[in-house]
Amino acid sequence: MTGYRLTRLLPPDHLHHALRADVRDGLTGEPKRLPPKWFYDARGSELFEEITRLPEYYPTRAEREILTTRAADIATTTRARTLVELGSGSSEKTRLLLDALRAAGTLERYVPVDVSESALESAATSLTADYPGLDVAAVLSDFTQSLGLPDGGGPRLVVFLGGTLGNLLPAERAAFLTGLRAQLLPGDWLLLGTDLVKDPAVLVAAYDDAAGVTAAFNRNLLSVLNRELNADFEPEQFDHVALWDAEHEWIEMRLRSRRAQTVKIADLGLPVHFEAGEELHTEVSAKFRRERVERELFAAGLRLADWWTDDEGRFGLSLSRPFEDGSD
Ligand code: SAH
Ligand code: AVI
Repeated sequence: MTGYRLTRLLPPDHLHHALRADVRDGLTGEPKRLPPKWFYDARGSELFEEITRLPEYYPTRAEREILTTRAADIATTTRARTLVELGSGSSEKTRLLLDALRAAGTLERYVPVDVSESALESAATSLTADYPGLDVAAVLSDFTQSLGLPDGGGPRLVVFLGGTLGNLLPAERAAFLTGLRAQLLPGDWLLLGTDLVKDPAVLVAAYDDAAGVTAAFNRNLLSVLNRELNADFEPEQFDHVALWDAEHEWIEMRLRSRRAQTVKIADLGLPVHFEAGEELHTEVSAKFRRERVERELFAAGLRLADWWTDDEGRFGLSLSRPFEDGSD
């Protein structure tokens, strides 16, 4: 087969409806906040890939280490015919799973699901070239709205890597896991990557790197608003902030206004005033402990089957499967 298939589950007016609604709600509330999914235009997706190569940003390397040692076990245990990946981005680490499932002789289809069309296109194009015969069925979707799981093709292995689950707030996370569980069938599996609680200095450095790439990623959100909604943010008038919230055990990224300023969001007819030092909350990145992962999975109807970390214990990868109500 040549080429890949692309199914669009995002409505064509996604940017105009969903972004407008999020901006109207988020920039008129207290504190001001926007959901992190809006980071990922083409530039944001490129900046994220740059982040994964930074010396301070250990999660990608730690998760790759686990996948390198465990992919064969995962393939033997799951015997997946369909690999579905939520928030697939560049799908780089996924190659380890594709290789292992191919070697086990079970893999037929790969379904990358992402909100970033540019990331999906480039990943699907290179995977199609590198894995002849693999059915690559990409899905453009917001996984908080529609998971994009294909019918049939079981057993299905759903993978959610990189720690992206931690970018959802706790209530969103619970709703997401419950919604995912509801779509899984007996024989399906979830492989979930979660970053782990560790020395706050290591965590903060990972989100405030010396080269300023994470700062550029954070400020890129303002460029998205300028382009899509005719806003007039001056990104350099906002400082990048990364802090550790010990109570919630999450990193928070914010953009702090350098001075009092009023930004106009022309397409919404909305002036937005920032006091000097006022912060726009742009992302949480929750860090987990094994017990919390296990508990949250269980609350959603998923039982942990395996748990692995990298040698330094920085990142966790869990394999779980659905159980029926009443079986515990
Ligand atoms: N899984 C990859 C990429 C992580 S970056 C890795 O581990 O390196 C997070 C990815 O999730 C980005 O590609 C982004 O576009 C996607 N994403 C973020 N929020 C999303 C949402 N609500 N729906 C679908 N994709 C989303
Ligand atoms: C995609 N996600 C898991 C990243 C994280 O680490 O929370 C996004 C990111 N934000 C800043 N750096 C990376």
